[in-house]
Amino acid sequence: MGDWTDGYVSDVEYLAGFYSEQMPAHIDAACLVRGIEPPVPRGEPFRYCELGCGVGKSATTIAATSPHGQVWGFDFNPAHIARGQRLSRESGIDNLVLEDSSFEDLAGARGATLPRFHYIGLHGVWSWISPRNQQHIVKFIADHLEPGGAVYITYNALPGWNTAAPLQRALWATAGVDNDRSDRRVVRAMAFARRMANAGAGILPLDFLDRLEKERDGDNVAYLAHEYLNAHWAPCYQMDVAEALAEAKVSYATSANIIDNFPDLCLTSEQRELVDEVPERFRETIRDYFMQRTFRRDIYIRGSRPISSRRIDSRLRAVRLMATVPESALTRELRVPVGKAELSESFYGPALKAIANGTPSIGELFDESPAGGTATAQEVLGMLVGSRQAISVIAEPSEAARARVRRYNVAQLRTYADEGKAVGALAGVAIGSAVTVRLFEMLVYEALIDGVPAEPGAMVDDCWKRLKSRGDRVVSNGAVIDDEAASRVVLENNVPEVLQIALPMWQRIGAV
Ligand SMILES: C[S@@+](CC[C@H](N)C(=O)[O-])C[C@H]1O[C@@H](n2cnc3c(N)ncnc32)[C@H](O)[C@@H]1O
Repeated sequence: MGDWTDGYVSDVEYLAGFYSEQMPAHIDAACLVRGIEPPVPRGEPFRYCELGCGVGKSATTIAATSPHGQVWGFDFNPAHIARGQRLSRESGIDNLVLEDSSFEDLAGARGATLPRFHYIGLHGVWSWISPRNQQHIVKFIADHLEPGGAVYITYNALPGWNTAAPLQRALWATAGVDNDRSDRRVVRAMAFARRMANAGAGILPLDFLDRLEKERDGDNVAYLAHEYLNAHWAPCYQMDVAEALAEAKVSYATSANIIDNFPDLCLTSEQRELVDEVPERFRETIRDYFMQRTFRRDIYIRGSRPISSRRIDSRLRAVRLMATVPESALTRELRVPVGKAELSESFYGPALKAIANGTPSIGELFDESPAGGTATAQEVLGMLVGSRQAISVIAEPSEAARARVRRYNVAQLRTYADEGKAVGALAGVAIGSAVTVRLFEMLVYEALIDGVPAEPGAMVDDCWKRLKSRGDRVVSNGAVIDDEAASRVVLENNVPEVLQIALPMWQRIGAV
């Protein structure tokens, strides 16, 4: 078969990452905020295809949380696919195909056997592959996206990357082409770049190099290899990506960074006036000059359909929301690209309380708001989901759907334990997505599923045993604790809070 990599790093595996923006439910919410019909009505069957799915974390999460969906994930690296398949098998997922096909295969004979999809997602792929592979992807989208379907695509953006691009070239050029593994080569290349900087290579951005060194010291070397050692790495202007994708009859619809859809939170009035003077197809690129974005998360649609202005309000009012963080962490003060924005106390005060304790519809939030408020339904969805404090609820899950996702979560948590990961994602079938969990939460979740009563004493005993059998230690205020008595004190201080705050949330999102 020869070299199948086309210059892409394939000798070290990519990290298992979950990205909520890629979930159909998030893509749908971004479309609604923009007043565009999502690819399929909420809760209806869909087909989702992920291109370059890596180890398949997002694809498995979509499959596990969408019993009504069919999911495909393709990646040419067989190690990635084998890892994803194993998780899928252990979770009993039956609506997912993971396969080691290349973009070239998918644009050719393999693709010809596949159906059309309502969603095609590619995260962290476009600006890391060759122009020839980009063309294969465009052909695949042209052949396989349903009318009204969405493409979720992320990439390194220009002009934001202009300052740091010379560092990538230097790393790639000095990493060497010997047979050593990419993770070791990237570390060597970084040391060389540091020496170049010390010797007066003023073009190298030192703050950026500092950040890469932090990633290296944080054991994120696989990411560094995949980010910096690809032969065809090339950040892109939005207008060029839009032009390439136009061949597949898709056009830019909206940003998956939902706050980006609110111009006054992203640009000053002077900047907005300048952007408005530019032909529409160049506006996103000109915005990128002001926002200095280095990474874009975009949604393209094949045949974008505006929701009628008579119906948009009622459609949005029907959306149910729930908080994805504890009530104490909910805030009306948002960090936005132009600085800070403060949501009104009169409407959002009660609204935050309501989403922390239930799953109200946006219409109910308005009906129950004592002061009424001036917010629109689009703004409420945009602010609460865009600030990552809330997520839309798809449906009240059946017991069978909950059982399915529990099995997936248990299998995932086992892989986190094997890899020594203290942060992960816990999938919920009511939201078609996942929420962040940390070590104590992982321990409590596993214990609950194994039937340990949700009562602090029994839980602490059980979590302590689990912690030891995982081979992990408690970290408190940045310090690793070895002593059993001290570890138990930390557990005693944390486990009740997990039971009190996280457990009700897991019940609402359909994770337990
Ligand atoms: C940066 S990783 C992103 C992985 C995954 N989307 C994620 O976000 O976790 C890019 C992925 O694209 C895959 N890839 C690169 N070139 C490819 C090709 N020609 N055909 C199929 N997959 C490819 C790589 O193996 C890698 O897993």
